[in-house]
Amino acid sequence: MRRLIQLAALAALSLGAAFGPASLTPARADDESLPHVNWSFSGPFGTYDRAALQRGFLVYQQVCSACHSMNYLYYRNLEEIGLTEEQVKAIAASVTVPGGVNDQGQPIERPGLPSDHFKAPFPNEQAARAASNGALPPDQSDLVNAREGGPDYIYAILIGYSDPPPGVKLMPGMSYNKYFPGHQIAMPQPLQDGSVQYTDGTKPTLDQEAKDVVTFLTWAANPEMEERKRDGVRVVLFLLFLTGVVYAVKRRVWVDVH
Ligand code: HEC
Repeated sequence: MRRLIQLAALAALSLGAAFGPASLTPARADDESLPHVNWSFSGPFGTYDRAALQRGFLVYQQVCSACHSMNYLYYRNLEEIGLTEEQVKAIAASVTVPGGVNDQGQPIERPGLPSDHFKAPFPNEQAARAASNGALPPDQSDLVNAREGGPDYIYAILIGYSDPPPGVKLMPGMSYNKYFPGHQIAMPQPLQDGSVQYTDGTKPTLDQEAKDVVTFLTWAANPEMEERKRDGVRVVLFLLFLTGVVYAVKRRVWVDVH
């Protein structure tokens, strides 16, 4: 029986360690340790808070998308965060994309469709750098996975702005950020209290906006996470069941020997 309990504990432990982007990424050994947010999606049973996802998309759409692309997402993916087909059509149609050429051979534009990729703010990297003091706003499709610290790190960057401490001189066009490596960041503080208007009555504080957009960015980078966790839980339940069966069989087989 002791082995059984050990096995169960092991299974539970590995489940806890194996799931959730937050738990996958150890905190950085930086001088400023990251704030630790209790995300709805951490842990083996965590799920994305749908309302937070929708608010987070709003923050991305109204603020971040001015500089950051989101190349791997299609507008139709937004149905997965609970938006209706009509809402998605309207969001897609609010941008224009290249639409081939007209009869005179001139390039034309058309409204976006749900089957289009998210429209990027700049046509190419050079244009993005030229608009951003030489720095490149990274694509946000996979940013949460690409940075050590994951969601906690992105959240920390968003709330980590302040005046530089005495004696620290910033290069022109740079801002001070406690959590950015080197502390000088080319992104001006993107979020403040009231940067967006939420339609669900939630108060748009800096902290709320930051948490919501990080939830959205985590989903964008890991849309299959909930399914993966459900599968993981099923596998562990099955293994526990199997352990029980094997244990019962062993007892039956050995019963005459003892
Ligand atoms: C005015 C343009 C602009 C806006 C708006 C903007 N960013 Fe940025 N962002 C940048 C630039 C430029 C960089 C690159 C900074 C650097 O390398 O110093 C950057 C970098 C980042 C980083 C990367 C830090 C790293 O480790 O490389 C994160 C995270 C980020 N932005 C998140 C966001 C989020 C979330 C929003 C929306 C709430 C947003 N940004 C809005 C321009 C912008």
